[in-house]
Amino acid sequence: MPINLRGRSVLTLDDLSPREIRHLLTLAAELKAAKSAGTEQPHLSRRNIALIFEKDSTRTRTGFEVAAYDQGAHVTYLGPAGSHIGHKESMKDTARVLGRMYDAIEYRGFGQKIAEVLAANAGVPVYNGLTDETHPTQTLADFMTMREYTHKHLSDITVAFLGDGRDNVGLSLAIGAAKVGINLRIASPREFWPDQSFIDHFNDIARDTGGQLLVTESVEDAVKGADFIYTDVWLSMGESEDEWPERIRQLTPYRVTTAVMEATGNPYAKFMHCLPAFHNAETEVGAALEKQLGIDCMEVTDEVFESQASIVFDQAENRMHTIKAILVATMAG
Ligand code: CP
Ligand code: NVA
Repeated sequence: MPINLRGRSVLTLDDLSPREIRHLLTLAAELKAAKSAGTEQPHLSRRNIALIFEKDSTRTRTGFEVAAYDQGAHVTYLGPAGSHIGHKESMKDTARVLGRMYDAIEYRGFGQKIAEVLAANAGVPVYNGLTDETHPTQTLADFMTMREYTHKHLSDITVAFLGDGRDNVGLSLAIGAAKVGINLRIASPREFWPDQSFIDHFNDIARDTGGQLLVTESVEDAVKGADFIYTDVWLSMGESEDEWPERIRQLTPYRVTTAVMEATGNPYAKFMHCLPAFHNAETEVGAALEKQLGIDCMEVTDEVFESQASIVFDQAENRMHTIKAILVATMAG
């Protein structure tokens, strides 16, 4: 059966079959090669895409914008202020308005339920650009990057995620891992473990794909033999910044250091991060925490972040190529 994603929304990787995920990864690689060779063809002329961002973004916004422009489409950015969304107009009504004008809508915001309301009422594809629960376009970029850095099939690799095991990036990676058969280990303090219903969901999907999930408090057990070590910021957008000191205290044992990379026993192990990362104190938040707590990094040391093992900027670039694959697959033709 040929794959046809036309008109489909991507709210979570649960929406895509393993074959559809692989199809998008292959399409993204083709689009990346075509852009590099100067042979890219625009498939989205006269298409218009609304980009709703209720939270900040660098990569996701620019990824959608550049992907759209490369393919001949136009975008409208609707930021946290400046539209009626949420204040005077419900998401259901907003969806019905935008669906009359646009061919697709990207949504970055808070609850996944809001993205679902948008998709149920817009009548055009809706793409999740990050919610509190999940970040599917990030995971597609991560898988594309993993494929570029290993000769193994995704179903043969081992990935260790360290830090906040319940955050949107970690949980999205886990759904993706279950879908493509990755051996995933999550290392977190017990209070940051994904809940049992999520683990059951992973195992339901993985029964058919060979994916495996280990959730552990032991960094050593998680990273042994891993091909990729992944981490994310310890406090996500929407969480109270007052929680930083306690969060840092809880998660410091899960920082990715050179010793952690060495504990993989794999000299080719790569370091991954969705970004932005607190690897030094060269940000407002980083500088304030350095002053308050005397730390110069959080989830990853500057040494690992800047090392040969770090492939974080490949991930960042691949956000655009994988988003472009979604746009082309769901809107072209
Ligand atoms: N990784 C990611 O989603 O980055 P932005 O928040 O910059 O979009
Ligand atoms: N977990 C982070 C990811 C940022 C891309 C957040 O939600 O803020």
